[in-house]
Amino acid sequence: MKNAAKRMGLVALPILSLVVAAASALAAAEDGRQTVESVCNRCHTHEPICQNLNRNEAWWHMTALRMINNGAPISQNQAKDTALFLATLKPGSEPVCK
Ligand code: HEC
Repeated sequence: MKNAAKRMGLVALPILSLVVAAASALAAAEDGRQTVESVCNRCHTHEPICQNLNRNEAWWHMTALRMINNGAPISQNQAKDTALFLATLKPGSEPVCK
């Protein structure tokens, strides 16, 4: 009984941490979407964002940090989440191209 419980724990813990990791990645991407929708069209339209949807996460992170320098009112964390979100968007997709 004790061993069975221990074994269950050994199986359950890694699964649980995977679920938690997946959930926080989803939350980060959702935060990124909100930032893009509410902040990234204040100084320019979504057009330059739409035109760069083939870029990777590193490029978006660098660009989001540059937007902070340009005066964008977002945190370092939001810059990261924005990069995570934009790097997953396929060229032509919502919410930046439609
Ligand atoms: C405070 C004003 C401001 C806000 C808010 C802003 N931008 Fe910009 N953005 C600029 C300016 C100014 C430029 C042109 C100069 C430059 O590229 O840094 C620009 C250019 C860009 C470009 C074109 C860059 C290139 O290399 O072709 C992209 C992509 C971009 N912004 C993405 C974003 C994203 C993503 C956000 C939201 C996190 C954002 N911007 C929010 C001011 C802003």
